[in-house]
Amino acid sequence: MSPLVYLTTPLPGDGVAELAALCDLRVGEAGAGLSAANPPAFLKRCRGLLCLLGDRIDRALLDGMPDLEFVSSVSVGVDHVDLQALTEREIPLGHTPGVLVDATADTAFALLLAAARRVAEADRFVRAGQWRAESRWAPDFFLGKDVSGATLGIVGLGAIGQAMARRAAAFNMRVIAWSRSGREVPGVENVSLEALLLRSDFVSVHVALCDATRNLFDAERIAMMKPGAVLVNTARGGIVDEVALATALTENRLFAAGLDVFEQEPLAPESPLLHHPRAVFTPHIGSATRLTRAAMVHIAIQNALAAVQGRRMPHCANPEVYKN
Ligand code: DGY
Repeated sequence: MSPLVYLTTPLPGDGVAELAALCDLRVGEAGAGLSAANPPAFLKRCRGLLCLLGDRIDRALLDGMPDLEFVSSVSVGVDHVDLQALTEREIPLGHTPGVLVDATADTAFALLLAAARRVAEADRFVRAGQWRAESRWAPDFFLGKDVSGATLGIVGLGAIGQAMARRAAAFNMRVIAWSRSGREVPGVENVSLEALLLRSDFVSVHVALCDATRNLFDAERIAMMKPGAVLVNTARGGIVDEVALATALTENRLFAAGLDVFEQEPLAPESPLLHHPRAVFTPHIGSATRLTRAAMVHIAIQNALAAVQGRRMPHCANPEVYKN
């Protein structure tokens, strides 16, 4: 009997048909996601799960899936999955590293520039018809923050952090970094996290969300940032205390923030961040380019195909489940 596999949302491309030829593939409705409260009746019989980063895979869900043999996520980040629970059950978790490095670094740099030069605020100003004769060009009109010659502090020097450093070098920025691994990268000065916060005009976050990085930017660390600095986050929302960030913006301790990721997604309408004109937002679109998303889907399907065929997943977040 071919294995029952649940794909929580339709995916583009030909790979899905290839997978469907090898298993009994059930596909959820677009945007519906994996509902823990109201799971489909067949979920308990599934041997495979293909999911997105909005699908929470926790112990409660796994307890109800005794036949589960693999999970493949269309994401590089795996903080939506209880990895330890999967590993205990010797279930491999596929993910999509590598292919979204440049797209995500582009988004981070776009947010850095937009925050520094008040692009979203200026756009709203023009659209609202506020650009009138009495508010035209003047020496202090919409003054922003200089990028060239400024210091960028990169938190996390993995592939995306390094791609951010290359972009910053092209903009004539000085680049300093803190990473838990202490990795050396040419042109980047390694410093302590405290020194980075004190020295950086711009701080860009590029660490994965895990127990060690949750709330890394708490009120105390945000207070240590250089007055007038800009915080950019394209990693995960749970790394930054959003209430503390909103307070720092309101009190003008920080100049601006550029955020692609949020503690709760979609961002709640009552978020205090929404009140700040110098906070620039994008809705978790760091990897949203045509080629990048196609590559992510391709890898996720290759991971699932490998699992269905009893092979090792090419990109596995917990390779220790393969004993040999
Ligand atoms: C990921 O894959 O983890 C990214 O956040 C998607 O943009």
